[in-house]
Amino acid sequence: MKIASIVGARPQFIKLAPFSREIRKRHREVLIDTGQHYDEEMAGNFFSEFRIPKPDHSLGIGSADHGEQTGKMLIAIEKVLLSEQPALAVVFGDTNSTLAGALGAAKLGIPVAHVEAGLRSYDSSMPEEQNRVLTDHLSRLLFCPTDAARDNLKREGIASGVHVVGDVMVDSLEESRLAAEKRSRILEDLKLRKKAYQLLTVHRPSNTDVKENLLAILEAIGGSKVPTVFPVHPRTAGCLSDYGLEGNLPKNIITTKPLSHMDTIHLVANSQKVLTDSGGLQKEAYILGVPCITLRETTEWTETVDVGWNRLVGADPEKIKEAISNFAPPHYRPRVFGHPGASERIAGIMDDFLSKG
Ligand code: UD1
Repeated sequence: MKIASIVGARPQFIKLAPFSREIRKRHREVLIDTGQHYDEEMAGNFFSEFRIPKPDHSLGIGSADHGEQTGKMLIAIEKVLLSEQPALAVVFGDTNSTLAGALGAAKLGIPVAHVEAGLRSYDSSMPEEQNRVLTDHLSRLLFCPTDAARDNLKREGIASGVHVVGDVMVDSLEESRLAAEKRSRILEDLKLRKKAYQLLTVHRPSNTDVKENLLAILEAIGGSKVPTVFPVHPRTAGCLSDYGLEGNLPKNIITTKPLSHMDTIHLVANSQKVLTDSGGLQKEAYILGVPCITLRETTEWTETVDVGWNRLVGADPEKIKEAISNFAPPHYRPRVFGHPGASERIAGIMDDFLSKG
């Protein structure tokens, strides 16, 4: 059978890698890359790091306002799907590439499978939340990482085609963790001692595009005096430059370019704490047993908060400082994201679905 996998942004390459390897054992995968992320550090390096095969269709859409970006993707994806006629289209996560892929396929009557279905932050102002809800309602197969995700879908009346399979990132994380232990030199390169630094990432428009929020976060972290590694996303780099902050950050903040997944995982695993507004990093910190301070008011990874390993602080400097000094999770850390092997479980369910026609 021919299966179209549609990706475009950095977190999707991470989720695609283990899935793609599994699905290629059983079917012909047609890989479509929208080009939402295009820099070497944001895209190219991930293809080589995860040994992802060259895309069959590189759409080269690139950056634009949300409507324009999603619209251009939809037009290009429809053309590819019309010529390829896959039996199933697979989308990952919650980016504009996810929604464009799901919408393009659904409008052509091609069944959609959503990997990482059912997540909700219940903050409808987030573009990712809009993408998640719409994608789930267009999907025939919904692969949930957790029971909470399944329950969210149930509340929206979606019960058919829903499968709790665990999280595909558990698979890629295990791979990157083992590779990192052997090969990552990032601690030596940045002259960091294990558990004597924290890791910071900020890229959500609600933090980067509001100058006061970005300033509040950086000043609060500066005040902590803890050495803080800060790989800077291109969106954030643009904002730092616009606000005159480039080269002007508190002395304990060590900036880097966006890093490989292997180096990121090595930094997470050996950090005191992670401070982030990313979804994926909240999950990775939890799986690796590192306390996470989330620079948002809401999260879609609610389990990590419920079990006391993740604290939501928004961009509030007092809450950030307090969490850096005092946040200490409990000893108990249940396996909420499931066991390795989610990709294999997903592929098996897809086989059943396809064999029923
Ligand atoms: C997107 C996703 C977000 C995800 C993030 C991971 C949406 C709505 N958002 O956000 O959910 O967490 O990817 O990184 O899909 N840029 C470059 N080079 C690149 C890519 C982007 O310089 O290779 C710059 C451009 O100025 C662009 C900006 O970054 O306008 C934002 O990129 P975009 O893909 O629109 O959104 P992200 O913030 O990366």
